[in-house]
Amino acid sequence: MNLELTETQTLIRDTARKFARERVAPQARRFDKEEIFPTELFKELASLGLMGVNIPSQYGGAEAGVVSYSLAMMEMAAACASTSVAMAVTNMCAELIQKFGTEAQRQKYVTRITSGEAVVGSFALSEPHAGSDPRAMRTTAVRRGDKWVLNGSKQWITSGAYAGVMVVWALTGGQGSKGISAFIVEGGTKGLIVGKHEDKMGLRSSNTVSLTFEDMEIPAENLLGKEGDGFKLAMIALDGGRIGIASQACGVARAALEASIRYAKDRKAFGQPIGEFQGLRFMLANMATELQAAELLTYRAAFLKDEGQPFTREASMAKLYASEMSNRAVDKAVQIHGGYGYIDEFPVERYFRDARVQTIYEGTSEVQRLVIARETFKLLD
Ligand code: CAA
Ligand code: FAD
Repeated sequence: MNLELTETQTLIRDTARKFARERVAPQARRFDKEEIFPTELFKELASLGLMGVNIPSQYGGAEAGVVSYSLAMMEMAAACASTSVAMAVTNMCAELIQKFGTEAQRQKYVTRITSGEAVVGSFALSEPHAGSDPRAMRTTAVRRGDKWVLNGSKQWITSGAYAGVMVVWALTGGQGSKGISAFIVEGGTKGLIVGKHEDKMGLRSSNTVSLTFEDMEIPAENLLGKEGDGFKLAMIALDGGRIGIASQACGVARAALEASIRYAKDRKAFGQPIGEFQGLRFMLANMATELQAAELLTYRAAFLKDEGQPFTREASMAKLYASEMSNRAVDKAVQIHGGYGYIDEFPVERYFRDARVQTIYEGTSEVQRLVIARETFKLLD
C-alpha cells in the first residue's frame, strides 16, 4: 500500500493551496461578514482547472482524478468553506454531465463549467418537502413536442442565483424511483424564478436559494441520461459529492486545529502558555488523531473511485465520520480560544458556524448511516 502522492496529485494540491492561501484566505472573513459571492474568484478557480479536477482535458478539465480533487477541496475549505462548497457542487455537476451526458451535452455544458463561463454549477434535487427522501419530490416535467416543460420548486440550492448550468430533477411519470429524470437547465431560462437568499448560520458567502419553475421550457435534448434514470444519476453523483464534503470537513477541521495550536502556544495563563496544560494538549492530540482518521477514510473513498471500484459505502463512511469529526474539532477550537473563540477577531467562530451544516447537506448523518448499513449488509448477502 502506497500512501505517497503522485506528481499530479502534489501539483493539484500545491496549486490549490497557493491559491487558497494567497487569494481566498485573506478575504474569507470579509466574504462571510458581507455575504459576498466571489464570482471573479470562481473564474480564477476554473482557469486553474479546479472546477473540473476529475474531468478529461478534452472537456477543459484537469484530468487529475479524485484524490487530487479531494486534496484541492481540503485546501480550499481550510481557507473558506463557502468558496469550497461552490467548488464542490460545480465539480459534481461537471462530472455528472461528463459521465451521463451525450457528446453534444459534454461539448456544450461541461466545457462551459470548466472554462468558468458558467461561473458555477448547481445541483437542484432537494425540495421544500423532500430532502432526505428525494423520491418524494413534486416538481414535474412534461414532454411537449421538442420541449420539456417543468413546474415546481427546489429548496436550498447552492449557488442557485449565479449558476450558468444546473442539473434539475423532476417527475416524468414512471413507477417508483424510475419516475424521476434529470435535466440540464441554463441559468436565466424563461420561467426560472430565483427565490430569496437564505440567511444562514454559517457558509454566509455561499449563495443558497429556492428555485421555482413556472412552465419553464427547456429543449428536449436537455434530458440528462435516459428518461427514468434520474434517481440513479442523483445517487451516483452524491456518492462522489460526499467525498467532496468529507474533504471540506477535513479542511475546516485542519484550519481549526492549526489556529488552536498557534493560539495555545501564544496565550498565557497561570504564568505559562496554555498549550503546556495537559488538559489542552489532550484535546489537541484528539483533534489531530481524529483529523488523520477522517483524511484517511476520505483518501480511501477517493482512491476507490479513481480505481473504478465500488465506493458508495466508503464515501458515506468518510462523509459521516469527517463531518462529525469537524464539528467536534471546531467546538474544541472555540473552547481552546476561551472568550476570544466566541468573537470574530479569531477565525474559529466562523469555522464553528461553517462546520455545522456538514452533517446535514449531501445527506444527513442519519442518511449516511442508512447507506453504510445497507451496503455493509450487502457484503454478507
Ligand atoms: N448508486 C447507484 N444506484 C443507487 C444508489 C447508488 N449509490 N443508491 C440507490 N440506488 C438505486 C437503487 O439500486 C434502487 O434501484 P432500483 O429501483 O433499480 O432497485 C434505487 O436507486 C432506489 O434506491 P433506494 O430504494 O435505496 O432509495 P431510497 O428512496 O430508499 O433512498 C437514500 C435512499 C440513501 C436515503 C437516498 O434517498 C438519499 O441519498 N437521500 C439523501 C439525499 C441527499 O443526499 N441530498 C443531497 C442534496 S445535494 C446537496 O445537499 C448539495 C449540497 O449540500 C452542497
Ligand atoms: P429532512 O429530510 O426533513 O430531515 C429532518 C431530520 O430527520 C434529519 O435529522 C434527518 O436525518 C432525519 N431523518 C429523515 N429521514 C430519516 C430516516 N429514514 N431515518 C432516520 N432519520 C431520518 N440540496 C440540493 O439539492 N442542492 C443543494 O445545492 C443543496 N445545498 C444545500 C445547502 C445548505 C446550506 C443546506 C442547509 C442544504 C442544502 N441542500 C441542498 C439540502 C440538503 O441536502 C438537505 O437539507 C438534506 O438532505 C436534509 O433534508 P431536509 O432538510 O429536508 O431534512
